[in-house]
Amino acid sequence: MLWYEWLFWIIWSVAILMVIAYAFIIPFGAVYIPTIKDQRQKALDLLNLKPGQSLVDLGSGDGTMLVLAAKSGLTAIGYELNPFLFIISWFRTRRFGRQIKVRFGNFWKANLSEADGVYVFLITHHMKRLDRFLSSQKHKKPLKIVSNSFTIPGRRYAKKSGPMLLYIYKPVDKQG
Ligand SMILES: C[S@@+](CC[C@H](N)C(=O)[O-])C[C@H]1O[C@@H](n2cnc3c(N)ncnc32)[C@H](O)[C@@H]1O
Repeated sequence: MLWYEWLFWIIWSVAILMVIAYAFIIPFGAVYIPTIKDQRQKALDLLNLKPGQSLVDLGSGDGTMLVLAAKSGLTAIGYELNPFLFIISWFRTRRFGRQIKVRFGNFWKANLSEADGVYVFLITHHMKRLDRFLSSQKHKKPLKIVSNSFTIPGRRYAKKSGPMLLYIYKPVDKQG
């Protein structure tokens, strides 16, 4: 084969793998749609975390939210299941050292017991499961969650800013 035929097949194979990786996410959560630039700061403002506190982005995409959080002095942890996005976000965030951790994995298995704030951009279909998941966490301090656009069924949000909704989950020992 000539070099440009190789190139053609390589580009096609990568494109097909990217589409498969994108679609493979559907049973696990929302596919990649980045949060609109102006809305990211709204989410952080609602969470109102102090420098040194931690933010977890459940499905961290290309890592943009993690970078913004780190620039505000927070420790940021992202979970991402799409291998292409994981690699992109790992590259983008590596200059922040230990301040940002990106984990290649399923966020439904995450332990949020040490998190101060959580950011999530899911779809309606997964919101009930999200509530069960958050309720099952063993956190000792109130856990603040900002959901982009989608409400958590059976819960009342504490605040709203544009499409961002803030929920507060009480610590385990205060749940009644
Ligand atoms: C709607 S996008 C939001 C991306 C990013 N948080 C943002 O706001 O720009 C959802 C992301 O979650 C990832 N995702 C979906 N389900 C997941 C799961 N169960 N575990 C880890 N990542 C997941 C998708 O690959 C996608 O990158």
